[in-house]
Amino acid sequence: MTYTIAFAGKGGTGKTTVCGLFVDHLVKAGKGPILAVDADANSNLNEVLGVEKPITLGDIREEIAKSDLVEKGPIPPGMSKQEYADFRFGSALTEEKDYDLLIMGRTQGKGCYCFVNDLLRAQIKRYYQNYQYLVVDNEAGLEHISRGILPPVDLILLVSDCSRRGIQAAGRIAEMIGQLDMAVKEVHLIVNRAPGGKLEEGILDEINAQKLSLIGVVPQDEDVYQYDAAGKPLVELPEDGPIKTALREIVQKLKAV
Ligand SMILES: Nc1ncnc2c1ncn2[C@@H]1O[C@H](COP(=O)(O)OP(=O)(O)OP(=O)(O)O)[C@@H](O)[C@H]1O
Ligand SMILES: [Mg+2]
Repeated sequence: MTYTIAFAGKGGTGKTTVCGLFVDHLVKAGKGPILAVDADANSNLNEVLGVEKPITLGDIREEIAKSDLVEKGPIPPGMSKQEYADFRFGSALTEEKDYDLLIMGRTQGKGCYCFVNDLLRAQIKRYYQNYQYLVVDNEAGLEHISRGILPPVDLILLVSDCSRRGIQAAGRIAEMIGQLDMAVKEVHLIVNRAPGGKLEEGILDEINAQKLSLIGVVPQDEDVYQYDAAGKPLVELPEDGPIKTALREIVQKLKAV
């Protein structure tokens, strides 16, 4: 059985950073194969992982939808949409040693995408069972999961900054997850970019008031800025540095992982 994990949280809190380093940790702990999915319209998980961006599922969806409108669409004569989707899906996977990366891409256009979405849904369903873990970097709305394009998630890790408003936003997302009836087994909070890795009393009070389960605190790490400025992927951060150390502790607490 594939264990599915989704990262969510308001903009700019560090979802992609934490998600990418989480994937890296699972790979290094020998827990692969992993399917990493970038489900954010502004996809950049590949940068944290240090791999090229493959063609996105959104691009493939456009190709297929376009073939209805343009006479010379991309689908070769005699090939069905289903066959074309199968064939193109392979090129949407960046295959690394112990993980593959899939990018959902944008939902563009005004046409009806139901048919293509159904194709993609079926395809993902077929593929993801080949992996030990499915790890998804989401935007706050968890759109691909709530619409059933991505499979149901076992665990949601909410990422917040260490501000009161950040924690309140995480509380609202947790509430929305409850209302969406997504059959999630566990929801936990990771507070990121905490100075010195410590939380003030007032923030801990807010976490309690929002009824969130705090699973870990990731410190503000100055190396991140240096790596970012130098264009170095964050997976190359030192193993004993503050972020990776904090993440290891978080994974240890997650009994199901
Ligand atoms: N622990 C940390 N220490 C220092 N900088 C960090 C840390 N975590 C993330 N950052 C930086 O914060 C910025 C936002 O991080 P990231 O892109 O991961 O957030 P996000 O939640 O995925 O954003 P978006 O909502 O735009 O997708 C980046 O510049 C990243 O390098
Ligand atoms: Mg992001």
